[in-house]
Amino acid sequence: MIRLESVSHAPTDAVAGEPLDRPATRLITPDMVRDLPRVRTYIRQADAALAEIGYTEHGERHVSLVSHIAFNILKRLGHPQRECELAEIAGFLHDMGNAVNREHHAQTGAVIAMHILSDMGMPDAEVVRVMGAIGNHHENDGDPVSPVAAAVILADKSDVHRTRVRNPDMIKFDIHDRVNYAVEKSFLNVDEAGKTITLELTIDSGISQVMEYFEIFMTRMLASRKAAKFLGTSFGLMVNGNRLT
Ligand SMILES: [Fe+2]
Ligand SMILES: [Fe+2]
Repeated sequence: MIRLESVSHAPTDAVAGEPLDRPATRLITPDMVRDLPRVRTYIRQADAALAEIGYTEHGERHVSLVSHIAFNILKRLGHPQRECELAEIAGFLHDMGNAVNREHHAQTGAVIAMHILSDMGMPDAEVVRVMGAIGNHHENDGDPVSPVAAAVILADKSDVHRTRVRNPDMIKFDIHDRVNYAVEKSFLNVDEAGKTITLELTIDSGISQVMEYFEIFMTRMLASRKAAKFLGTSFGLMVNGNRLT
């Protein structure tokens, strides 16, 4: 007589011996993501790759700021706490794809984030929301597909600042460096009562004319306006105390 034994064909983790499709139930906090050495490695490598091809700073300073601002935008507009935290996580992870290639860095970054967050045990329903936000953050090929995505777009586009310029000697030659270097102060003002989000900039017009800002940042401004609209607000730009939009 042949005895048939029931055999599980689910793939198993060779180390832990657990099925790979185990349900993920852990609550992953923004601090847990920030503190992961693997995340730090990807962010550092992404920034190093951009340094090689002459881009402004996209490292821990930039992603920490974007993370913080994305959280605050949703918080000020009264979104649920967990949604604010997902924006905070997406903001921190949004530029890792630059470690692969500047082209399509939003999409490759989303896939990298999926691996990291899934490995940490974040539920799939949350992972996809973070992926959608990261994959849509770039102004050329992204859209505010969710509140988390809209918050990351607004936060990312608001980071224009002198400290992002790696080599101030280049400001004579490179318009991106010049415009960033000219910005002494940038602040994203969320007015929940007035339903407006205003990017307030202080620009040293001795270094760069305001027109130069528009020349290179027009698509960013349009992306910000779209994102603000998605969140039920209007977007404004204020330069040196003058409201321009
Ligand atoms: Fe980016
Ligand atoms: Fe960015």
